[in-house]
Amino acid sequence: MKIIKTRDYDHMSRQAANILSAQVILKPDSVLGLATGSSPIGIYQQLIRWKEKGDIDFSQVQTVNLDEYVGLSPDHPQSYAYFMRKNFFEEAGIRPEQTHIPSGLAKSGEEECHRYDELIHRLGGIDLQLLGLGLNGHIGFNEPEEAFEKGTHKVALTDSTIQANQRFFKSMDEVPRFAYTMGICDIMQARRIVLVASGSNKAEIVRKAFFGPVTPKVPASILQLHTDFTLVVDEEAGSLI
Ligand code: GLP
Repeated sequence: MKIIKTRDYDHMSRQAANILSAQVILKPDSVLGLATGSSPIGIYQQLIRWKEKGDIDFSQVQTVNLDEYVGLSPDHPQSYAYFMRKNFFEEAGIRPEQTHIPSGLAKSGEEECHRYDELIHRLGGIDLQLLGLGLNGHIGFNEPEEAFEKGTHKVALTDSTIQANQRFFKSMDEVPRFAYTMGICDIMQARRIVLVASGSNKAEIVRKAFFGPVTPKVPASILQLHTDFTLVVDEEAGSLI
């Protein structure tokens, strides 16, 4: 595990964007595993700026996103499909056919999860997976459990995650209770993993996940076992490590 300590959110975003950018420069047809949430937004903005300057070209990449809410259409403003288009794909010049995300409207959850795992396999696996960190240690939507779930699966979101996500919805009732998420094995098979965490509210979970025991009760802790894992924290999130 490599740890990069940065000054603040902007610095963290630029450092992580540099790693993604190097990945795409060295392998223009990279398969990028992407994440939603507030943490990666600064990275996407930085990458868009470099794309506009002509320093980076995403025309050959494929992207696979970690997760999607069950029941939300790709046009719902809180769907992760919409988030990705508005925060990254449109301005980065990444065409819809290059992007992949579980379908929140799939008729059969089981088939959708199987389709998504097959797709990742068909693309040749993930070259670089970008992750944020949930307050309870979740990655993607792999919530604390008794055992690690391996493949893409449907998950019941925990109360803490529903509460954390409430800020994006008009009322608590509108927050989806279920999501599809890549599993721990999908994530761990990525050839390189970068996790970004910022802010004092992440300090305790950063310490637990990366300096505590490896346990499915803190899903991100498994990343300690990955051979090419980089943790990029700002000063506040890294204050206890
Ligand atoms: C959601 C996403 C995760 C993300 C987490 C943290 O639950 N499914 O992929 O890492 O939120 O979000 P934030 O970066 O806003 O703290």
